[in-house]
Amino acid sequence: RPVPGLNEVLVRVHAAGVNPVDWKTRASGALVEWGAVPAVGWDVSGTVEAVGPGVGLFRPGDEVFGMPLFPRQAGAYAEFVVAPARHLARKPAGLTHTEAAALPLAALTAWQALVDTANVRPGERVLIHAAAGGVGHLAVQIAKARGAYVIGTASAGKHD
Ligand SMILES: NC(=O)c1ccc[n+]([C@@H]2O[C@H](COP(=O)([O-])OP(=O)(O)OC[C@H]3O[C@@H](n4cnc5c(N)ncnc54)[C@H](OP(=O)(O)O)[C@@H]3O)[C@@H](O)[C@H]2O)c1
Repeated sequence: RPVPGLNEVLVRVHAAGVNPVDWKTRASGALVEWGAVPAVGWDVSGTVEAVGPGVGLFRPGDEVFGMPLFPRQAGAYAEFVVAPARHLARKPAGLTHTEAAALPLAALTAWQALVDTANVRPGERVLIHAAAGGVGHLAVQIAKARGAYVIGTASAGKHD
């Protein structure tokens, strides 16, 4: 069981998200360099087990989720993960751990494009290709929540 250092949190993992970057990292040879297993996995949701010195954001028992250390090694497929406190957010009570662990990478990809870069505003028209895909289904919801008029493309089997 890893020990949280300065400004770090130990998370008991309830769910880990699986993304294409996991197998791409495995295939890249990075594991040889990283050594320790489980080497891959970033998207994670769980409960704070312990906090290191300097952590004021969280306490043991808090439910958190995030994508710690990306693209450096986090090992989120493990039972316990150490993460910088600022790489985690509180899990909304309305989300299960499984749902929360599915969000970070795909949702941040959509958020960074639509909010940080495009700064989508109410009434703007947003075209989202692959609107039923991993990133796309989150992009649709973020753009709608920003008040945009959203047009999505998808192959016929995903139109509903
Ligand atoms: N998932 C992540 O966290 C993440 C992070 C960073 C970057 N990305 C990148 O974001 C893109 C989407 O990723 P994703 O995870 O959402 O993938 P995904 O869930 O596999 O969805 C991809 C969808 O793209 C559509 N598509 C495939 N070929 C197409 C083409 N030639 N023209 C138009 N649409 C096409 C298909 O949907 P239809 O069958 O409906 O056409 C396919 O299901 C990829 O380029 C990925 O590398 C993803």
